[in-house]
Amino acid sequence: MTTTTHHWPQRTAHIINLLLMLVLAGTGFYIHRPLVGGLMGLARYAHIVAAFVLLVNLAWRIYYAFLGQYKDAREFKPQLQALPRQIRYYLFLSNHEVKEGLYNPLQRLAYLAVVLLIILQGVTGYALGWPEGTMAVLVNALGLAEIRALHYLITWFLLTFLIVHLYLVLTETPHALSEMFLGRQQLLSTGSPEKHVARDRA
Ligand code: HEM
Ligand code: HEM
Repeated sequence: MTTTTHHWPQRTAHIINLLLMLVLAGTGFYIHRPLVGGLMGLARYAHIVAAFVLLVNLAWRIYYAFLGQYKDAREFKPQLQALPRQIRYYLFLSNHEVKEGLYNPLQRLAYLAVVLLIILQGVTGYALGWPEGTMAVLVNALGLAEIRALHYLITWFLLTFLIVHLYLVLTETPHALSEMFLGRQQLLSTGSPEKHVARDRA
């Protein structure tokens, strides 16, 4: 059966996410340690605007996953039982990966973790920007320096995800690149729901 694996609403949200991540990491590192002077006002402004759009994009993506025309929430449902088998595959201890639907069990967990990290980044970022606002309780409990360190740490978690994500996309599912960015169609097997895909390690 030929079917579109990544529909345009999901693809658009993914590209917006990617562009905003780059803007946020770039402006964030500038705020953290400005290598050239004079751009702090602009960097802060761009960071806040991009952060707002990122959070709106995330909220819309979650809404769409559950209620959109091509809703795909079930593709992200955790499959903890199958996790050890998938880890064995990634550790080169098995030639069979577990893949039910679009994403394998580790992909699902990683994508859910990214959602959580972006929300945490929003909370800590909001506390940094408006320490006397709604987040005052958090600022008083943790301290502003600690929240700043947490925001910085999560930045590195997100960048680590991005590097591993890129590596795995390029090595495991290079065909998914054009599907995710250009929306090309792919041949899908309609066989058994649990598909074991053998890895060709020739
Ligand atoms: C999700 C919503 C986000 C909000 C509301 C937010 C907000 C903020 C605020 C208010 C600051 C402090 C700016 C200042 O000192 O004037 C900041 C700093 C920073 N942000 Fe964000 N941010 C968000 C997401 C992100 C993301 C996704 C990244 C990276 C991928 C990031 C990376 C950074 C970094 C590296 C700093 C500097 C921290 C430091 O000084 O140690 N932020 N952010
Ligand atoms: C150059 C950068 C990136 C490339 C080339 C890329 C590529 C891809 C590809 C090909 C897929 C589909 C995987 C499959 O079908 O097996 C995918 C899915 C996904 N990527 Fe990325 N990605 C990039 C950046 C990002 C960033 C920055 C994030 C978030 C921090 C992200 C989050 C996700 C998520 C959550 C999915 C699941 C599908 C969905 O959201 O609809 N990606 N990516």
